[in-house]
Amino acid sequence: MFYRRNGFLVFPECFSSEEVDILLNEVPRIFAEDTPRRILEKSGAVRTVFAPHRDNEAFRCLSRLPRLVDPARQLLESEVYIHQFKINAKVALEGEPWEWHQDFLYWHKEDAMSAPRVLTAALFLQDVNEFNGPMLVIPGSHTGGMVNVETHGRFTSPQGNGNAGWNGDDHEESPVWMHTLTADLKYKINRDILASLTKTNEIHASKGRAGFVLFFDGNLFHASATNFSPRDRISVFISYNSVENKLRDIAAPRPDFIASRDFSPVVPVDDNALLTLGVAV
Ligand code: SIN
Ligand code: MN
Repeated sequence: MFYRRNGFLVFPECFSSEEVDILLNEVPRIFAEDTPRRILEKSGAVRTVFAPHRDNEAFRCLSRLPRLVDPARQLLESEVYIHQFKINAKVALEGEPWEWHQDFLYWHKEDAMSAPRVLTAALFLQDVNEFNGPMLVIPGSHTGGMVNVETHGRFTSPQGNGNAGWNGDDHEESPVWMHTLTADLKYKINRDILASLTKTNEIHASKGRAGFVLFFDGNLFHASATNFSPRDRISVFISYNSVENKLRDIAAPRPDFIASRDFSPVVPVDDNALLTLGVAV
């Protein structure tokens, strides 16, 4: 099956333009809110906002739609809960890269997630092309499991719970987990690892019309470049984890808005629910 072999699956036109507009309409208000859940680029532009589904009805509804939840349940072979939910802005000209990484490495090391029984549904709310930083994936790169790269030089080594200290630069005032979120990622792969991951499969750029969804495995290597276009590339990343793969307790967990410890299974809503939001019945 394509997903098991390649570690990702694309659903073109999964959301209609009407649904995309309903979600996009909410975004400026969410981005404007000054909260610790909002992560900025060096320029001050919004990079990511975590957990908008907790207080925004449209995004909460999105996270419960059968067209996302059913494939997640099917692929993970269990009920699922939402481990992480974020909107990535990738703002025109200011949207910085995401370096090559596996999500599961962070979730395992930083959040004490045991197994890679986790996947992400990424919904792109704007057209994605070669100019605005498409998500790059390496087909089949999940099959080798987690590649245990060490933290790069500026970090102290992880201590037991995996929360390494940051030895300082322009983010000196930031919490220690900030470098699990910014363009300067904490765990970096080198050229040799990348060369070996791409030996049998070429890098694939995930492009398409607004409304397409990319499901991808927690161990799939992915990255994206700067947005060099005049348009933003707003996308929503919902990471579903198996309810049989709950996070273990650790001494210094990352904030709950980054790694949820509410393990309640997702209860799906009607698949048309976004279109009827706020409409009295
Ligand atoms: C991510 O890896 O979390 C985001 C990648 C992207 O937005 O390109
Ligand atoms: Mn990622």
